[in-house]
Amino acid sequence: MTPFDAFKGTRALITGGMGFIGSNLALALVELGAHVTIADAMIPGYGGNLFNIEPIRERVTVNFCDIRDANVMNYLVKRQDFVFHLAGQVDHILSLTDPFPDIDINIKGTAIVMEACKHHNPSTRVIYTGTRGQYGEAVSLPVSEEAPTHPKGIYEITNLTAEKIIEVYNDVHNIHSVLLRLTNIYGPRAQMLHSRYGVVNWFVRLALDNATIKVFGDGQIKRDFLYVGDCIRAILLAAICDEARGEVMNVGIDRPTNFVELANTLIEVCGSGSWEFAPFSPERKAQEPGDFYSDISKIRRILGWEPETSLRDGLAATVAYYRQHKAHYW
Ligand SMILES: NC(=O)c1ccc[n+]([C@@H]2O[C@H](COP(=O)([O-])OP(=O)(O)OC[C@H]3O[C@@H](n4cnc5c(N)ncnc54)[C@H](O)[C@@H]3O)[C@@H](O)[C@H]2O)c1
Repeated sequence: MTPFDAFKGTRALITGGMGFIGSNLALALVELGAHVTIADAMIPGYGGNLFNIEPIRERVTVNFCDIRDANVMNYLVKRQDFVFHLAGQVDHILSLTDPFPDIDINIKGTAIVMEACKHHNPSTRVIYTGTRGQYGEAVSLPVSEEAPTHPKGIYEITNLTAEKIIEVYNDVHNIHSVLLRLTNIYGPRAQMLHSRYGVVNWFVRLALDNATIKVFGDGQIKRDFLYVGDCIRAILLAAICDEARGEVMNVGIDRPTNFVELANTLIEVCGSGSWEFAPFSPERKAQEPGDFYSDISKIRRILGWEPETSLRDGLAATVAYYRQHKAHYW
């Protein structure tokens, strides 16, 4: 018996389920015996990829739809035990030049999902994945959930707003919700076509292409890079733990790595690629929060969750996946 046996026979809706984290979650839930429905709009430039769910294609229901379509969401949330709300505009670079997709999808879309739950399935559980970017610059390290939130971009503001919206539905409308703030996640099934988000995966692509990785600044900025398998375990535990209700929890690692270490480890694991220093572009410089790594004592205490995958092992698994399935991601 494991705590995850609780998912057997349950019904789960995953918004953004064709994307990086959503598809890994779908695979895990199907493996655990849940009936999974995916809602995804497959917006070009985002992470949706049909191949992501190849191993479970016959065992999930896929609904190509937009979370901003209230009629569809009203229908899809019905009879779901869990609503994993992962659909979003996640390109923080784009959000600097055009704030409206973030505002529309991440704020309005989240309100539509929560209204659908309120009217059509108030006893469901909602799990939301926000971002460490909601904190902005770290006031002290590691960054705990008590730290002030000073987001440096529209993407991050809209994630914080979505979190606040969901908190209202939890507190006022009595919809059991859990709010996670994810650090930089990497691993199989992320988009590999552009560098606007997902820095570790982008480095993996360059190493596999035997190209030169650009390490911005002096490469000493600290980050907690978390393997997607660990992230999925956190999301699953958050869904089934009664004590997690209404809580905001960091999902990260309290052992940080800097970008030079990341590049060196990756090149060693991959056996190809190289790296060089490069100056920040002005827009990246403006958004760079400096050193960041998460205090994970709260999620440890409430969920008993612990990151288990070392950077080296996580990178090796990521490299192996893309080496095998390159044709579907390049
Ligand atoms: N990957 C990370 O490092 C990371 C870090 C912090 C937070 N997050 C959050 O986790 C969630 C998932 O991120 P990801 O990395 O899997 O991104 P992703 O781009 O791979 O997946 C997002 C999916 O959402 C879908 N989508 C976007 N707008 C939609 C809409 N209006 N209707 C329906 N589907 C829509 C996209 O088509 C895509 O398949 C996001 O909310 C993101 O903000 C991710």
